[in-house]
Amino acid sequence: MQNIELFDFKGKKAIVRLDLNVPLNEHYEVTDTTRINAAIPTIRKIIDSKGKAILMSHLGRPNGERQMKYSLRHIVKTLSEKLNAEIKFVSDCIGDEVQKEVDALNEGDILLLENLRFYSQEKEGDASFAKKLADLADVYVNDAFGTAHRAHASTSIISSFFDSDAKMFGYVINQELEAIEMVLEQNERPFTAIMGGAKISDKIMLIEKMLDKVDNLIIGGGMSYTFFKALGGNVGSSLVEEDKLNLAKTILEIAKEKDVKLSLPVDSIIASEFNNEADVDASDNLVIPENWMGLDIGSKAIEEFSEIISNSKTILWNGPMGVFEMSNFQNGTKKIAEAIVKSTENGAYSLIGGGDSAAAINLFELQDQVSYISTGGGALLEYLEGKKLPGIAAIQD
Ligand code: 3PG
Ligand code: MG
Repeated sequence: MQNIELFDFKGKKAIVRLDLNVPLNEHYEVTDTTRINAAIPTIRKIIDSKGKAILMSHLGRPNGERQMKYSLRHIVKTLSEKLNAEIKFVSDCIGDEVQKEVDALNEGDILLLENLRFYSQEKEGDASFAKKLADLADVYVNDAFGTAHRAHASTSIISSFFDSDAKMFGYVINQELEAIEMVLEQNERPFTAIMGGAKISDKIMLIEKMLDKVDNLIIGGGMSYTFFKALGGNVGSSLVEEDKLNLAKTILEIAKEKDVKLSLPVDSIIASEFNNEADVDASDNLVIPENWMGLDIGSKAIEEFSEIISNSKTILWNGPMGVFEMSNFQNGTKKIAEAIVKSTENGAYSLIGGGDSAAAINLFELQDQVSYISTGGGALLEYLEGKKLPGIAAIQD
């Protein structure tokens, strides 16, 4: 494979797979530009060195149907503003119209293709569809880290139609791989992983993997109540995965065996219902009253977790501490984000990743004060779990 930094794009048509799957509001305006911002350096490199950039991505899950709410046309304005360059848009991703637009490209031009997932062949990894995309260009650049766990036509199958000297990762994937390497392989200790989110079942593979790597494992968020129930506590009407109680116990035992300090939140902010306007109170997690539910970590937990974080040299954060989307239950997640920022200022390396934690750090406007925020959700999780991602393997092999 090639190295984007060293590659000379002059006069070459580069087809670039990006992950421009960004959230839109009801007016189809982009509400979080993280992935668009991340895509800029790769596009800039191509056009500044006088290549022709053909950009492709998916948006949402239109299931092979041409649904206009999923049109990539909605992101043209934002992308063009961020790039400070004109972007041509074509309302298809293969076919005569696309070919005509590609033929008309001058050096330094940018063309954005319509949503790849308007064709079911994209998700199916259809080879002839992939070849049609490949035939548009001289070189292939994959920079869609967030979609690297999908063996789709544009993320992995397309790669086989380019020689190894005509394909490469973009800057996003290179940076993501470096950040993960910093955390997993070159880490300074103590290494602390902070895991949150609703369900143990979503995170179990990562938790198991982390138990082999970290000194401290902090578990917060909805999944902590399954642990407290497993420990014989009363968790009221908090979220519990009844079928994971034994698993929770096993995780606690393995942590002990492996000498990992596993910390659960001692206390919670509890609510009378799952609602921002609900009555709130505070409670220790073993004695949450009937019909009350924990929706955020409490002040003792914040203090204890912040202390661990401040003593850490490597930090991985995946998953919020509470229902941070509701203003009355975002304090715990915010305080943990602030503790990570402080530790980073003091020299720790911090990787934030996996959809919700990245959204949280953006919400608190702390995105520039941590070492790296991953653009991947599921892709980052799978990579950290040790899986080979099809989008990565296709270029490397
Ligand atoms: C994501 O947002 O998770 C990526 O863009 C991948 O999208 P997908 O989960 O629909 O494949
Ligand atoms: Mg996803």
